[in-house]
Amino acid sequence: MPATRSKIGLIDGQAGKLCYRGYPIETLAENCSFEEVAHLLLKGALPNASQLSHFIGELRNHRRLKYRITDFLKCLPESGHPMDALVACMSACGMFYPPAMFDNPVDQHWGAAMRIFTKTPTMVAAWHRIRGGDEPVAPRDDLSHAANFLYMLTEREPAALAVKVMDVALTLHAEHGMNASTFAARVTGSTLADPYAVVSAAVATLAGPLHGGANEDVLATLRAIPKGGVRAWAEDQVKNKRKVPGFGHRVYKVKDPRATVLQKLATQVFEQLGSTPIYDVAVELEKAMEDLVGDKGVYPNVDFYSGIVYEKLGVPTDCFTPIFAMARTAGWLAHWLEQLEDNRIFRPSQIYEGNRDQVVQPIEKR
Ligand code: COA
Repeated sequence: MPATRSKIGLIDGQAGKLCYRGYPIETLAENCSFEEVAHLLLKGALPNASQLSHFIGELRNHRRLKYRITDFLKCLPESGHPMDALVACMSACGMFYPPAMFDNPVDQHWGAAMRIFTKTPTMVAAWHRIRGGDEPVAPRDDLSHAANFLYMLTEREPAALAVKVMDVALTLHAEHGMNASTFAARVTGSTLADPYAVVSAAVATLAGPLHGGANEDVLATLRAIPKGGVRAWAEDQVKNKRKVPGFGHRVYKVKDPRATVLQKLATQVFEQLGSTPIYDVAVELEKAMEDLVGDKGVYPNVDFYSGIVYEKLGVPTDCFTPIFAMARTAGWLAHWLEQLEDNRIFRPSQIYEGNRDQVVQPIEKR
């Protein structure tokens, strides 16, 4: 039974197609910046030049975090996972922007969407700096969404290739239909909860290893494969029915279209920045897996190449899922806005399988 109706993301798992509002993901990745894609998701159409410039202006205006939010991050244990810090920070941020500060619901919703979307990278980068004992790097108004994030994370202006890769990776992760975290966002939004709580619930759902965490597992797996033994390792996994992280998808039964785009980018990155053993292992593993389980429709998914590429750009492994969250914030907020257009609280039914007609016994007889 479908959970809802939506006009945002379309997935065709048999054909390996993903479209945002009717535009194939490949053409968006090739021709549009992540800001244009975010506009498409949030506003429903690709922007013209003046709409884009207005949208970018709005985004850049709201990048900063209040110092009390940064102080709040400083109180969290530095060993905590960045996704937990993001959940906490997102919820706390809502207390600073109560709905009453806006005159009408449309401004209220759009104001919240803008702030959440544009402050998420600042939160992720600030937490990474703070846990390392450094002050957060203030956002820069002259950089794109992707470039500014890499700058805040590393305190260095990123190279053009790094910006391009991050920009495309954000586009590829921005929306994916009724996945678990988007469903969580819609359910929370349907109660008319605060939008920061909506996104916080979605981030918490994405954090689970069955959802957003697979890209971290891919790297651990590739590192653990013995040198020169990729084929034998893959055969052993398949023979023993062990799932190889980064392969297979519940919806796609052909290669995930996002993995195809990312793989092309990975090739460029490794050609320009030099290959690493992990990339060579990945390429060999993909070939071996295609021979072994390709006929079952098991191919690389988006997580297979994303972690490898992020690592090459110098992004710490536990920031991979927060980057996914930064991108998916566009999709979550688009779904939240769509939910509010014609809202009805989610109240699924259940099949009751418990006892009936129980009689309470006095406590000494239980
Ligand atoms: N490695 C090896 N074999 C795999 C596999 C993988 N990653 N994913 C599926 N298969 C095989 C199964 O063993 C099964 O084989 P069988 O028919 O001989 O029993 C067949 O393909 C179907 O698997 P199934 O578990 O029914 O597929 P699913 O659609 O329920 O599972 C996933 C989809 C994503 C949960 C699963 O592929 C997986 O766990 N992948 C690894 C984790 C991952 O990368 N997650 C991120 C997804 S974006």
